[in-house]
Amino acid sequence: MELMDAYGSPLYVYSRTDIENNWREFDQAFGAHPHLVCYAVKANSNIAVLNVLAKLGSGFDIVSIGELERVLKAGGEASKCVFSGVAKTVIEIERALEVGVRCFNVESESELDRINTVAKSIGKKAPISIRVNPNVDAKTHPYISTGLKENKFGVDIGEAIDLYKKANNADYLEVQGLDCHIGSQITDVSPFLDALDKVLALVWQLNDEGISIHHLDLGGGVGIDYDGEQTINIKAYIDAIINKVGQTEIILEPGRAIVGNAGIFVTKVEFLKQNSEHSFAIVDGAMNDLLRPSFYNAYHQVLPVNENATGTKAQWDLVGPICETGDFLAKNRDLSLSEGDYLALMSAGAYGFSMSSNYNSRPRVAEVMVSGENHQLVRKRESVQDLFAKERLYEG
Ligand code: LLP
Repeated sequence: MELMDAYGSPLYVYSRTDIENNWREFDQAFGAHPHLVCYAVKANSNIAVLNVLAKLGSGFDIVSIGELERVLKAGGEASKCVFSGVAKTVIEIERALEVGVRCFNVESESELDRINTVAKSIGKKAPISIRVNPNVDAKTHPYISTGLKENKFGVDIGEAIDLYKKANNADYLEVQGLDCHIGSQITDVSPFLDALDKVLALVWQLNDEGISIHHLDLGGGVGIDYDGEQTINIKAYIDAIINKVGQTEIILEPGRAIVGNAGIFVTKVEFLKQNSEHSFAIVDGAMNDLLRPSFYNAYHQVLPVNENATGTKAQWDLVGPICETGDFLAKNRDLSLSEGDYLALMSAGAYGFSMSSNYNSRPRVAEVMVSGENHQLVRKRESVQDLFAKERLYEG
């Protein structure tokens, strides 16, 4: 309540301690095994979040120049950044080379050629991995499954050898590693280990060709508990990796598992509206603020901020003010609600704010970080003026 009074509604709230603990769980599970935990910036790219992780020594998985500049601004090291994404532009490649990123994860032959050309033009070798598509089913939502042949990501694992040979012969490329990422919100370890087996078979083949792989980047994708689901035991997952890879350095790119359960989205009940069929709680947050329910039919637990709230008991649909039937945050939740109540959508730290937009000309909400008893604004709520500050009337 104190936070709502101080910062208003709707609001994202992140726990610094949870972010730190989640990152350390990955880092410490490796023990002395060579490794780098590269937080996937897309999950939550607020510079305060990045700064907390940079202070722990985290690496970063970036997919755009915007994410790269955010990491640098937040005190992260370029030499700990891996650059993923299917279509890096010339400008992005130039900047990444200039600041010295750790590795480019290359997703196609054309991209490999482009990186070589740009590297040549600035006279600096580009460290690369090829992202292979191991063709395993991550058994997750189709929009966030990336390791199947039908997906746009990576290079078919059967074709990777030839591409590696080409990279190895290119004057301005330096083969560093091998990369794969099979999807997101994966709650069972077996697809990861199946992918790893396929990747390791390729590493031996490459060895036979005289191409050595110095690190394996196994991507992100570790799922979290949204609805009481059984998730992956991180220590067991990392032990299983270490058991298979000898002394090869491992890079992981967790996003959701670091920030997902470290954040909530708080929204206020504006109106209650009941008809013979449905009970709607119209809240001040909407699909532009938290897209996951509308976009993936994702489930976020809803808890009352004031636990003693008494109100109308029903199965409520939480809907926002946006003019779309798909504008909902939750459906059929047993809650006792009154107008003016605050509700927390749990596990909203990942792909919450970072996927938000200004749709319906709604200013993006504020973000706050808490640490023990302290709290701080880490992104100011946008003003209405901000909405069109970059727009111009057409003159003439
Ligand atoms: N590495 C690569 C190359 C990725 O594409 C992703 C996520 C990650 C790492 C981090 O994955 P994570 O550990 O967070 O699962 N917006 C969706 C998730 C999209 C994931 C995209 N790629 C959602 O809200 O569920």
